[in-house]
Amino acid sequence: MSIRNNNFISNVSHEIGSPLTSIRGFARALKNEHLSHKQRIHYLDIIETECVRLSKLSDNLLRLAMLDSDRYPFQPTSYRLDKQLQSLILKCEPQWMEKEIEMCAMLEKVVITADEDLLSQVWLNLLHNAIKFTPQGGTITIQLQQQDNTAIVTVSDNGPGIAEEDQLRIFERFYKADKSRNRAVGGSGLGLAIADNIVKIHQGKISVHSQLGEGAEFTVQLPLSN
Ligand SMILES: Nc1ncnc2c1ncn2[C@@H]1O[C@H](COP(=O)(O)OP(=O)(O)OP(=O)(O)O)[C@@H](O)[C@H]1O
Ligand SMILES: [Mg+2]
Repeated sequence: MSIRNNNFISNVSHEIGSPLTSIRGFARALKNEHLSHKQRIHYLDIIETECVRLSKLSDNLLRLAMLDSDRYPFQPTSYRLDKQLQSLILKCEPQWMEKEIEMCAMLEKVVITADEDLLSQVWLNLLHNAIKFTPQGGTITIQLQQQDNTAIVTVSDNGPGIAEEDQLRIFERFYKADKSRNRAVGGSGLGLAIADNIVKIHQGKISVHSQLGEGAEFTVQLPLSN
């Protein structure tokens, strides 16, 4: 087995192991008959959150396996990229409204030929990150422009930003820039690896521009036809 595979397996084991340990601990604690109703609900909430984390991990692993396989049916169609972005921003509205985030969208009308389902995963992963890392009351800006034969999408936020040494690695599978912070905000470090993979299938490029404390800006460049 190659070192890369070995690393992959130990990362998966770790990502499965920690929520399981927590579920097991709180399930055991729930057997205590003297717990108050409030404590019981608190423990059940933790168990539920850890289950959601495990099921997201399983979805993302399946997605990666599918993208890695040569048999993936790549199905490009022509559609309005601006409409896709607009509808995904609306789909995430409950999450950004809850944090009172100001969402700005500046979307040019752009028609692209691409796999719509795959690209929607890219936009969702970038949007979810922006929402997750932006503090209460922050601002997220989504822009779409066309330059010659290329669509350019930028997602920027005014969250904590990403240190230069981490920027080189955040597109790797399981890489999280700040492990302690990530335990609190959740996620297993697969979203950007999946986005990178999908953008490459479309012969595009994804990059990040950021400074610690100054927010982050992700840019995706895609050829209009594939
Ligand atoms: N908008 C952002 N602001 C600050 N840091 C970010 C941002 N987007 C990504 N990162 C950093 O890059 C890391 C990798 O992001 P990625 O989306 O791959 O994983 P994740 O969000 O931690 O987990 P998952 O996407 O699997 O739920 C994050 O853990 C975080 O450290
Ligand atoms: Mg993510």
